[in-house]
Amino acid sequence: MTKKFYLTTPVYYTNRAPHVGTAYTNVAADVLARYHRQKDEKVFFLTGTDEHGEKIAQAAKEVDKLPREFVDKISDEFKKTWSVLNISYDKFIRTTDKEHEEGVRKFIFQLKEKGVIYQDKYQALYCPNCEDFVQKKDLIDGKCPYHGKEPELVSETNYFFKLDKFLGPVKELIEKDEIEIRPGERKREVLSMINQDLGNLSISREKVSWGISLPFDEKQTVYVWVDALLNYITAIGYGKDESNFNQYWPADLHLIGKDILKFHAIYWPALLLATGLKPPKKIFIHGFLTINGQKISKSLGNTIDPIELSEKYGVDTVRYFLLREISFGQDGDFSIKRLGERHNADLANGLGNLVSRVLTLSERIKPEEKTRGELTPKIDKAKKDYQKAIEGIKFSEALEAAWRLIGDCDNFVEKNKPWKLDKDSEQFKDVVSELLTAVKEIALLLKPFMPETAEKILKQIKENKKAEALFPRL
Ligand code: MSP
Repeated sequence: MTKKFYLTTPVYYTNRAPHVGTAYTNVAADVLARYHRQKDEKVFFLTGTDEHGEKIAQAAKEVDKLPREFVDKISDEFKKTWSVLNISYDKFIRTTDKEHEEGVRKFIFQLKEKGVIYQDKYQALYCPNCEDFVQKKDLIDGKCPYHGKEPELVSETNYFFKLDKFLGPVKELIEKDEIEIRPGERKREVLSMINQDLGNLSISREKVSWGISLPFDEKQTVYVWVDALLNYITAIGYGKDESNFNQYWPADLHLIGKDILKFHAIYWPALLLATGLKPPKKIFIHGFLTINGQKISKSLGNTIDPIELSEKYGVDTVRYFLLREISFGQDGDFSIKRLGERHNADLANGLGNLVSRVLTLSERIKPEEKTRGELTPKIDKAKKDYQKAIEGIKFSEALEAAWRLIGDCDNFVEKNKPWKLDKDSEQFKDVVSELLTAVKEIALLLKPFMPETAEKILKQIKENKKAEALFPRL
């Protein structure tokens, strides 16, 4: 039976257009989706937009637009960006989709049926940018540590979820890696969070009207985080298409940034367990892209537009750079200077040069399909290292493995000096055929990362014809 691979990205807030920080998660997810498809798995790659809540209603108001009109526009901008970046998602969900809204109401109704909801009056601090309650002890100079803004004091009567009841089971699942939290330090972080006082989980808001109304109290709307998390199940037919749902759930991988760990690793599994559903199998948490050490963020106003970046430097250069420069899981500085350096060194000189050299040599011969030789063990090693790295979601290591093979090919060329050989000799033909085989393997390794470039290389090999430079120097 074909293995399935259900992969998700967060649904992005539609308060402002996407930026290179949000593109980071989607490029990473896209590489995994393409890699698993290449392995012939049945991949379902989900992305989308998170469109309800106070923060978005506020953003719409600021530009004198109705929320609906506003989110339509921003959501389109996300789609456009993903198209430019070659993001091969299978579904783009919007939390304003009718199917999603129906699914959310069904799920909330289930919670009520299971007796895990209660009503309470409370007063607490709320950061609209996080769309989360914050505790006084976590503030820095009275401000949210992520957004640098003072939280607002909210006092409401809401419905709450009996989170306490499920913390023990969630903890055990995480400890046993039945919910795999990676990298390991994030697993430890979650476990220590569970041991601290997490407070209650409000699942509704009284004064936020831009949202999905509760099925049993129309005056309240579903808390935007609960609404958003549920996209992972409504997208595959929760409460509507059982057979599709059962085919894909539980998710094989939720890819997220470190700021939304608590919601995904604690609240989400707890909510699922409460209604008798399985938790996700794995959650991988990446770090932040920063500029001069500061998180790239819409709220901080230091964003870079991924479309402009792609137009200027090329889509594959951007995709490559994002995953090569920073070790996935850590924070890392995004610098245009470094992007240019890597473009010239790794792509124009390294990859581009090799491809052009080999295709120039091969013009005179009819290349053989498969040649075993000196490069064969190097190819096998590169493939093995690459596979191990990518299965462990270590993108930069996977790319390093491919680049080691590029280096091996360069050394092989230097050693055999094919330009000194008689072009009609067997030896010349062997050397060039071996190089062509290796370059083809390199293209296949790079295909999930740089789909357009890989296609161009494979086409040139197939037609045995050199085309224009893959990466013109900047
Ligand atoms: N809407 C929520 C997610 C709900 S998922 C059920 C949200 N949206 S967001 O647009 O603010 O962020 C979405 C993702 O983008 C998060 O994983 C976040 O970590 C990531 N990033 C936002 N800025 C980023 C960087 N500067 N660097 C890396 N990732 C960044 O949170």
